[in-house]
Amino acid sequence: MPRLHVNIDHVATLRQARLSQEPDPVLAAGLCELAGANGITVHLREDRRHIQERDVRLLSQTVKTLLNLEMAWTPAMLDLACELKPQQVCVVPEQRQELTTEGGLDVEAYAETLPAGIERLQDAGIEVSLFVNPDPNAIEEAARCGADFVELHTGSYANARGQKRENELRRLETCAVYAHELGLRVNAGHGLDYENVLPVAQLPWIEELNIGYAIICRALYIGLDQAVREMQDRILAAAPPE
Ligand code: PXP
Repeated sequence: MPRLHVNIDHVATLRQARLSQEPDPVLAAGLCELAGANGITVHLREDRRHIQERDVRLLSQTVKTLLNLEMAWTPAMLDLACELKPQQVCVVPEQRQELTTEGGLDVEAYAETLPAGIERLQDAGIEVSLFVNPDPNAIEEAARCGADFVELHTGSYANARGQKRENELRRLETCAVYAHELGLRVNAGHGLDYENVLPVAQLPWIEELNIGYAIICRALYIGLDQAVREMQDRILAAAPPE
């Protein structure tokens, strides 16, 4: 059964709407952990639209479970990650105009710099994940670059309906199995919510689910503690019966 990593970017989105101090993602991270989250995920974007460097610095000292830093593949982010040493880094593509991370990383495009950069992160004690579309070529490239994990982009699955969703799920399954065969560990995330999470949680080899938007939205109505617990309950339903 996969572990739940809560992405708290959108706590910071609300704070940045007023450029104030509330709500504080550092406090939110602690509440998520108290509610049973297995890890905290943040994306420090180049345009600093939500999470700020201050947040990552504090979270690297306060998160007690696991901190997963999503970042673009830039020299500045690589240096910062090596300095702050989150337990995990997930390399994502970044475009200024996008509302959220729209696709997986074009691993081939970074094939020259990824192997040495990944090794540098690993030497600093950081596990490295590459956020990829459920595409066998991207998975092969990730293995070739020496990544520890791939995170499979579940956005197409989440957006599809009916038979198309079923097809997307099979695509995720095939890629999870293939990644495992190539020696990669497997995470998944993007667009997962309370209604669509279970089939993904039941896929083979998936270790961690990164879920943000759905949890933070629900938290507005029922509180963060309950919203995290309800997502954990949905994921727990994937556990095989004793
Ligand atoms: N995984 C990655 C790599 C992401 O970029 C995001 C969005 O920041 C997520 C997971 C979480 O997506 P959502 O907020 O839709 O749950």
